[in-house]
Amino acid sequence: MSSALLEIQDLTVSFQTSQGVRRAVEQVSLYIEEGETLGLVGESGCGKSVTALSVLGLVDRSTGLIESGRILFKGKNLLDLNTEALRRLRGNAISMVFQEPMTSLNPVLPVGRQIAEPLMTHQGLSKIEAYASAMTWLERVKIPMARKRMQEYPHQLSGGMRQRVMIAMAMVCSPSLLMADEPTTALDVSTQAQILHLIEKLKADLKMSVLFITHDLGIVAQTAKRVVVMYAGQVVEAASVTDIFDRPAHPYTRGLLRSIPRMQPPTDVPKKRLQEIKGTLPSLDIIIPGCRFADRCPEVFEPCRQKKPDLSPVQAGQQARCWLYADGSGKP
Ligand SMILES: Nc1ncnc2c1ncn2[C@@H]1O[C@H](COP(=O)(O)OP(=O)(O)O)[C@@H](O)[C@H]1O
Ligand SMILES: [Mg+2]
Repeated sequence: MSSALLEIQDLTVSFQTSQGVRRAVEQVSLYIEEGETLGLVGESGCGKSVTALSVLGLVDRSTGLIESGRILFKGKNLLDLNTEALRRLRGNAISMVFQEPMTSLNPVLPVGRQIAEPLMTHQGLSKIEAYASAMTWLERVKIPMARKRMQEYPHQLSGGMRQRVMIAMAMVCSPSLLMADEPTTALDVSTQAQILHLIEKLKADLKMSVLFITHDLGIVAQTAKRVVVMYAGQVVEAASVTDIFDRPAHPYTRGLLRSIPRMQPPTDVPKKRLQEIKGTLPSLDIIIPGCRFADRCPEVFEPCRQKKPDLSPVQAGQQARCWLYADGSGKP
């Protein structure tokens, strides 16, 4: 693991809410190696975005608190950095792309200027140089008529094109790490495929690492080789994509896999009904003594409601936070 570009260790993040303290992320650990794409997957509300936002120091400071943990980037703990040092990092060595470009793009600035901006602030390029580079980037992310588009405002572009602009903005400074937080969730299927392809191509060209966040295991299969599965604020399984699909260990992961609709069912077989995991996410406002998945788990047994399970090895490269594997045998 010494080659890890980013290593999150035991990250715990909570929010002060009107109902009390909500623990959104609990003891999350994961790592991303140089040049690797790691998939981070789980249902909405399980803590994926808060984990990524913590890396860039973007957790809401008025209500959010990083209780504990370390976030090592190139060996340095980002949680020790001050606001100014974090600002230098964002959009430069580490950048982020979000689901909804309209929340990150400035509606009153032409897109060319927005792409040029990080080059001027982070890399000291002159306005002329930065604008020239921005235009090259518009071409690189396959926006036709780049020169004309430079002058346009976000609302004049389609959703797919706005997402391409966001990607260009994220890439201009050649980051070592891109965190893509559900970048294609708001897009139609064919635009989604184009954007995934674009990210894949840029990743190879720039030799960067990618944290690919999605609630969709199908997308993880297309983008990542290794995946971390989160449930209710915790990592419940980490494995290679092959193992996740062939031999998922955690009952939650198994449920998640059963809920994926088959992409192309044979024509003579009626489409199987999407099988949902019964029950709902537990409230994060209450401290749960045992496993957070116990109430929904088809395999629940005595220890599950009494004590929190740790991440246990299932086999080489695969771990699950589940009492089924806690004896170290790797067998349920
Ligand atoms: N600013 C905030 N204040 C209070 N709760 C928050 C805040 N941001 C996130 N949360 C809570 O943290 C949990 C995880 O959220 P999030 O990381 O956005 O989930 P995901 O990205 O997996 O959908 C959720 O329960 C969410 O309501
Ligand atoms: Mg999210």
